[in-house]
Amino acid sequence: MRLSSRLPHSFAPNALSALLTELRSESREVLDLTVSNPTQCGFTYPEAEIRTALSLPAMLDYDPDSQGSRAAREAIAAHHGHGLTPEELLLTASTSEGYGLLFKLLGDPGDEVLVPSPSYPLFDWLARLEGLQARSVPSYFHDRWHLDLGGLEAALTARTRAIVVVNPNNPTGHFLSSVEWSGLTDFCARHGLALLVDEVFSGYALEAADDCLRTVLADPAPPCPVFLLSGLSKVAALPQIKLGWVAVRGPGAAEHLEALAFLADQYLSVSASAQAAAPALLALAPALRTQVLARLRSNLAHLDEALAASPHLSRLPVEGGWSVLLRRPAVDADEACALRLLREASVLVHPGSFFDLTGDGHLVLSLLTPETVFCKGLSRTLPLI
Ligand SMILES: Cc1ncc(COP(=O)(O)O)c(C=O)c1O
Repeated sequence: MRLSSRLPHSFAPNALSALLTELRSESREVLDLTVSNPTQCGFTYPEAEIRTALSLPAMLDYDPDSQGSRAAREAIAAHHGHGLTPEELLLTASTSEGYGLLFKLLGDPGDEVLVPSPSYPLFDWLARLEGLQARSVPSYFHDRWHLDLGGLEAALTARTRAIVVVNPNNPTGHFLSSVEWSGLTDFCARHGLALLVDEVFSGYALEAADDCLRTVLADPAPPCPVFLLSGLSKVAALPQIKLGWVAVRGPGAAEHLEALAFLADQYLSVSASAQAAAPALLALAPALRTQVLARLRSNLAHLDEALAASPHLSRLPVEGGWSVLLRRPAVDADEACALRLLREASVLVHPGSFFDLTGDGHLVLSLLTPETVFCKGLSRTLPLI
């Protein structure tokens, strides 16, 4: 039987994953410097409070609201501030599900979305599974990262429906500047495009300059439709709860919310326990973010110390987020370098190409990595890069 052409032609793992599986099957200890799952990074979670939040009486009641429970939306609106109201919010089972709903809302099969790259690698598939095509438009680095508005204009076609930006970006850490925000929203308004802004990492500012836009909700009346995505997976370091949300602003917001609620109503996928727990979990979130931020800062300091002894290597500034880009002489392809580090030093790092970084010369490290693993991984790998 023929399966949908939206699926990959092959489910075979890429060369890096295949080598990782091989090494692990030989019981080789691999130092993973790509970890993104905070529940496995040695943070101290307030277990009793989390268990209590997940067993509130409200979880026994099934009284679905297609936008999500009002109490949860009130807590999320309060978490964001900037005048966000519960009416402007729709709950999802994850940020990924939010993308699925938005791509269904905005596009017909064959339509396109533009993604300033490098960026979160899941976009290609999330778009394709909804029948859309994600087209990358490289951003450029000049002291800091910059969106290429000219490149976005050149990539426009009659099928372009939206632009997807991550603020701050994964993996570059680039926060939009206020100037970029007005350029981008004007551009979208002129061309009838929606703007999707993923702010899952916005609570993790590290080396952000004053003109970095910490949240696009600071703009109460953007000139184009704006859909902000976020969720507990990064906001509270709780990916297993499976709770995300979409905030809707700009022209047509009420109709867009009505249509999104219709789409969400076909699935009603957010569990009652996640919704009932949301206010209590959001109350725990600042303390969890403090732990994560301390880890990110310590690892950045460890990296700087190690780089001081490796003059051929450097790192890019990290305005925010959980990753850092290591710059290296491109004597071989980044993927070949990552394979070599895994084979020879048993250390896993991501090549820049994994995030659609053009050209070679970059490796991506996760600053979430437990500190002892991070330091050991650096001392094993830096001499080999
Ligand atoms: C930019 C970005 N958005 C969303 C997610 C995942 O969010 P969720 O677990 O809510 O689907 C990630 C995960 O790494 C991410 O990097």
